[in-house]
Amino acid sequence: MSTQTVPAQPDLPFEGEILSPTIGLEIRGLRLDRPLQEPVLKEIWAAFLRHHVLVIRDQDLSPEQQIAFARHMGEPDIYPFVPGIENYPFITPVIKEAHEMQNFGGIWHTDTAYLERPPSATMLLAREIPPKGGDTLFASQVAAYEALSDGMKALLAPLRGFNTSEKANQIRTNVSEKRKSETLTAVHPVVRTHPETGEKALYVNSGHTVCFDGMTQAESTPLLEFLFRHQVQDAFTCRVRWSPGTLVIWDNRTSQHLPLNDYQGHRREMHRITLKGDIPF
Ligand code: SIN
Repeated sequence: MSTQTVPAQPDLPFEGEILSPTIGLEIRGLRLDRPLQEPVLKEIWAAFLRHHVLVIRDQDLSPEQQIAFARHMGEPDIYPFVPGIENYPFITPVIKEAHEMQNFGGIWHTDTAYLERPPSATMLLAREIPPKGGDTLFASQVAAYEALSDGMKALLAPLRGFNTSEKANQIRTNVSEKRKSETLTAVHPVVRTHPETGEKALYVNSGHTVCFDGMTQAESTPLLEFLFRHQVQDAFTCRVRWSPGTLVIWDNRTSQHLPLNDYQGHRREMHRITLKGDIPF
């Protein structure tokens, strides 16, 4: 994947390297274990809104420090299906053991779209990474929306998608059968508007969306299948290679992600915090 360095701007408190033309910025020169001044936080937030995914390397953070940084970015939320790590209910362990075959979240999705208020953002901190593989792909749903024809945009404008946690059961590892039997559902606009930037983004995903509100699955499937293929085309994606201490924060309102399951026989452990979001409109 080609990379491009953001032109030096003397007033920027860090350097950035664009990961792809549509999504992703790797930023350097930041230490998240130290107090961050307001102007720096504002620049991080602006970069987050602009690039949808921020990759911050080599962060040696305790759980308290990860939560402290998360609180700078928003209000931490509880993931409904997996308990947090000991003493830290906001930090969800995302673990694939060496003997496991299925990875957590191993399908293109945006996080918990089956909630009435899905998270605005998710932060993932790499704790243990396989020697090779285990990368995560991200796709810009703003770029995916913008690439549609005017006719398709008009068709999608009034539609709402029905999202259910049940569809994701096969890719929710570390979850007891009892918890899996609790189904959460939510209906959201197929095209949502970002509450801060005003950008429009596709908001259906193959992990949770089963049909359009008021339509049968048989009626919905052909168009949904088109959207599921369209929205994750290479042209809208970037790829993140993790190393221990890599922290990534992504905007769930404008992106989807896919953790690759290509590291059988090795362990991978990530610590995840989601941030509270609004009702999509
Ligand atoms: C997730 O879907 O939150 C997990 C992403 C990953 O493990 O890279």
